[in-house]
Amino acid sequence: MTENKSKDLVSEILRMKGEKNAVILAHYYQEGNIQDIADFVGDSLALAQKAADTDADIILFAGVRFMAETAKILSPSKKVLLPDRNAGCSLADSCKAKDFRKFIKDNPGRTVITYVNTTAEIKALSDISCTSSNAVEIVNSLPPGEKIIFAPDRNLGNHIINMTGRDIVVWNGTCHVHEEFSLEAIIKMKEENKNAKVIVHPECELPVRMIADFIGSTAALLNFTKKDNSNCYIIATEPGIIHQMKKTNPGKIFLPVPPKDSTCGCSECNFMKLITMEKIYRCLKTEKPEIHVNSKIIDDARKPIIRMLEISQKQGL
Ligand code: 13P
Ligand code: SF4
Repeated sequence: MTENKSKDLVSEILRMKGEKNAVILAHYYQEGNIQDIADFVGDSLALAQKAADTDADIILFAGVRFMAETAKILSPSKKVLLPDRNAGCSLADSCKAKDFRKFIKDNPGRTVITYVNTTAEIKALSDISCTSSNAVEIVNSLPPGEKIIFAPDRNLGNHIINMTGRDIVVWNGTCHVHEEFSLEAIIKMKEENKNAKVIVHPECELPVRMIADFIGSTAALLNFTKKDNSNCYIIATEPGIIHQMKKTNPGKIFLPVPPKDSTCGCSECNFMKLITMEKIYRCLKTEKPEIHVNSKIIDDARKPIIRMLEISQKQGL
C-alpha cells in the first residue's frame, strides 16, 4: 500500500469513528500501525474493563473473536464488530463445550475457572473468568480448601498451581504461538546478550518459564520493562507487544524469541494478524462482520465475567 493510500485509510477510519460514535479497542498483539489508531490498547483484562465501561454505540475490536464476544456479553445493546470473522484462537478452539461439560461432570465439586481465551459457551459453563493478569489473584480470592477446575491453557494452569499451591485440575489445551518458543534459542540469545532479561508469558511451556527472569501477562511484561533498569530483554510472547515496549522505552533493546521450527522465523499469532487497516476501514464502513451471541448464553456467560471484574476491582487490578 502506498503511503498516501494508507494515510487516506487512516483519516477515513478516524472520520467514520467520530461520525458513528465508534471506539476501536486493540490488543497488544496487533500490528503497530493499528495500535496507533486505536482509542485504547491493552491486554485482555484491560480490554474487557474498557468494553464494560464505554459509552460508544459501536465497539470495533482489533483483536480476536473471544475478545469481541466478551465485549458483546458485557455490552449486549452495543454493536460489536470484528474486522475478520476468521480471527479465532487456537487455544479457545481446543476446548469445545460438549467435551468441557463432560470434564466438569467427571470432576465434580470443583469451582470452574476459565481463561477469557474461551468461547462464550465455555464461559456460560463457568463460575469465574480470568485473564493472565489476574488468574493468580482470582484463585487466591477463593477459600483455601476450595477445589478448582481450570481451562483451557495447561501452561497457565500449571503456572497458577506453582504460584498458589491449590488443588486444581487443568484442561489440556495450549496456544500454538506460546508452546512453540525455542528454549535453545533463548539460551543462545542469553549467551550473546549477557545482561538481557528473559521475560515470558505464562502460556509458555515449563522449560521456558523456568529460565524466565519475569513471568506475566502482556500488560505485566510491558510494565516490567518500564520499571526494570536493564537495557535488553528477550521476549517470549507474541512480538506485537514490542511496539509498545519500544514506544515507552526508546533506548532499550527488545529481542523476540523465535519458534522451535526456525524455518518460520517468527512467532506471530496468525489469528491476530488477520486484522489489517483495510479490513478495519471496510468493517467500520459496512458495520460488518458483526458479533452476535445467543441471549441465553449472554445471560450465563456474563456472570463469571462480572465476578472476575468485581474481584479485580477489589484487588486494584
Ligand atoms: P493477555 O492476557 O496478556 O492479553 O494475553 C492474551 C493472549 O491471547 C495471550 O496469548
Ligand atoms: Fe489465542 Fe494464542 Fe493467538 Fe493468544 S496468541 S489469541 S492464545 S492463538
